[in-house]
Parts: sequence; C-alpha cells; structure tokens
Amino acid sequence: MTIEDCKLVELPRFLDSRGNLSFVEQLNHIPFEIKRTYWIYDVPGGEERGGHAFLTNEEFIIALSGAFDVIVDDGRLKKVFALNRSYYGLYVPNGLWREIRNFSTNSFALEFGSVKYSTEDYIRDYDEFLKQKNNGEI
Ligand code: TYD
Repeated sequence: MTIEDCKLVELPRFLDSRGNLSFVEQLNHIPFEIKRTYWIYDVPGGEERGGHAFLTNEEFIIALSGAFDVIVDDGRLKKVFALNRSYYGLYVPNGLWREIRNFSTNSFALEFGSVKYSTEDYIRDYDEFLKQKNNGEI
C-alpha cells in the first residue's frame, strides 16, 4: 500500500433549509464492510492521536464537526489530508502509518474500521513500521 491508495471521497449531500443531510454506505462510499465504529472528541488543543499503522484494518475517517489533519505515511512519502467538511471521508488502507493532528476546538472525528479492535493489529513503533515496510512484510 502507498499513500496513492488513500482516497478522499465526497459523500452525498441533501441541502435543506431544515438542515442538511449526508450519509455513508458500506461497500459503496466506504469500500469495505464495517466491523467497528468509534469516535474521537473533547481533544485538548495541541494533542495528537493515532501514531500507528494497522496490519489489516482499513479505515474511513470523517470530520463530522470541526477540522483536523490526517497525516498518512507509506515509508517513502507523506501526505496531509485536511478534513474540515462533514461530507468528505478519507479512506486509509491498511499498512500505512497515520497520525491525526491539529484538532480544532469541538472537533469530532468519526472512524469506521474493517476489523474489530485488536491490539495485535497495531504497529505503534515507527521504526518497526519502516522495517516491516522496507522488508515488504506489510
Ligand atoms: P488507541 O488506538 O490507542 O488510540 P489512538 O488512535 O490515539 O492510537 O485507543 C485508545 C484506547 O481505546 C486503547 O486503550 C484501546 C481502546 N480502543 C478500543 O477498546 N476499541 C477501539 O475500537 C479503539 C479504536 C480503541
């Protein structure tokens, strides 16, 4: 996997004077079956989350409220996706290092995953990630 495999997906939008509506569907806008949904909220200023890679978990990340940056790294190149609209989602495949930074006040990150939570699915050490990436293990 490389950062070219990340995809920013524009989601459907129904603009309405009563309030707008957007939605996502698995195996459609989200290119995998959803096994897990979690969210990150109440992030204090200056904090960052998620410095890790997943061996198998694919993710789809939406800034439901506010804004933050998702930094994706394939061991050769890095790319910053600035998420700041609730009708865009970022698909991040497995095997990439990713961090989330620059959370705005009251931001709310919604994340869908393709596998259930498992500590064995994480690489939390960047050097270990690079080693496995360079060996072609991930
Ligand atoms: P963690 O993955 O370490 O957060 P970060 O994205 O910042 O690396 O998760 C923080 C804690 O939440 C950790 O103790 C495990 C727990 N957790 C679950 O139990 N289930 C989940 O789906 C997630 C994402 C985390």
